[in-house]
Amino acid sequence: MPSEDLQAIIQPEGVHMGVMTVDAKKCTRPLGSSCQLCYDDCPVKAWELVEGEAPHLPADSLCLSCYHCMLACPRNAVSIAETYHVDSGYFRTLPHRLEALPPRKPLDGEGNPVEWTAVEKTVLNRRSVRNFRDKPVPEALLRRILEAGRFAPSGDNFQPWKFIVLTDKAVMKEINEGAWSFLKAYRTRFRDPAEARQLAEGVLSGVLAPSTFDPRVVGAMALDRDYRPILLNAPVVIFMLEDPRATNAGGLHTGICGQNMTLVANAVGLGACWVGLSLLALTIPGMKEKLGIEHPWKLVSALAIGYPKFKQEGMVPREYRPVTWIRDGAGGPVED
Ligand SMILES: Cc1cc2nc3c(=O)[nH]c(=O)nc-3n(C[C@H](O)[C@H](O)[C@H](O)COP(=O)(O)O)c2cc1C
Ligand code: SF4
Ligand code: SF4
Repeated sequence: MPSEDLQAIIQPEGVHMGVMTVDAKKCTRPLGSSCQLCYDDCPVKAWELVEGEAPHLPADSLCLSCYHCMLACPRNAVSIAETYHVDSGYFRTLPHRLEALPPRKPLDGEGNPVEWTAVEKTVLNRRSVRNFRDKPVPEALLRRILEAGRFAPSGDNFQPWKFIVLTDKAVMKEINEGAWSFLKAYRTRFRDPAEARQLAEGVLSGVLAPSTFDPRVVGAMALDRDYRPILLNAPVVIFMLEDPRATNAGGLHTGICGQNMTLVANAVGLGACWVGLSLLALTIPGMKEKLGIEHPWKLVSALAIGYPKFKQEGMVPREYRPVTWIRDGAGGPVED
């Protein structure tokens, strides 16, 4: 395999992590407050906190431009300086580069401004909730969430899903600690040039996911300064499994179930976050059996659910990728 191809994956060039700034005049920390909501709601803990100062992002920040810090800040002090993007190579942002825009204002069929519908508000306000209160979720509410999953559409109405609801704290601890050990070992592999090369070969040959070396993934894995439980200390985790024998199998059904369940969790006053890292549970000897995962069920992902510790929902900007329109009579595609 040409070494320049591998190198472009292992050490991509032109990577610009997100840059966020804080208006120190609006932030309450310089006035002596201990607020750190922007830090608490940051999935990669990108902010540096110094007592008596407004938070700042270090030069080697891991910011992935999710904009949670903007909505977490009660003083509206955080703004975007630069959106995550990659100039060239394997991980190049396509099309280069995208602008972060707030949700487009709604119009009716005649083009007049209108209010968002309840469904639109629910979709646009949903955010991943990663900070939960230490409070159990009543089973009556969990049943409503699970029903939202059960009523998802599916190819040929196969309904190829199965849910496992975990509230056992001892099992959660075992998963968190096992996953952490796995991630630590993986980080060591990344740092070894020969191992990194082997992993990159796995990406090019299709054995490993392309995202293995995505700068955001590698950055998050480099975070070994503090232990962070992958299950986010949530009181409930719903594991979502799919039957690979179904038509359109491959995770799509879990995606639909998960989104249905997330929105209903929000509707009943709860918060949720997808946990793709939940797959690491399978690296722990005996965990598959402990979770009751049997043939043919394939674990696809999980949702961490609980009562939000502080406000974490709301609208944020998002990169806008132009849509291709092939309008009747236009004679061809237009990007807009
Ligand atoms: C399939 C999938 C897997 C994810 N896995 C994780 C995860 O393991 N840990 C985590 O903290 N967030 C995870 N997330 C949440 C994303 O980081 C989040 O959706 C993204 O940053 C956008 O933020 P928002 O959901 O608040 O809009 C996952 C999201 C999806 C859809
Ligand atoms: S945009 Fe997201 S990743 Fe970046 S600092 Fe804010 S919360 Fe953290
Ligand atoms: S959330 Fe806002 S007020 Fe609080 S520390 Fe961050 S920037 Fe300052």
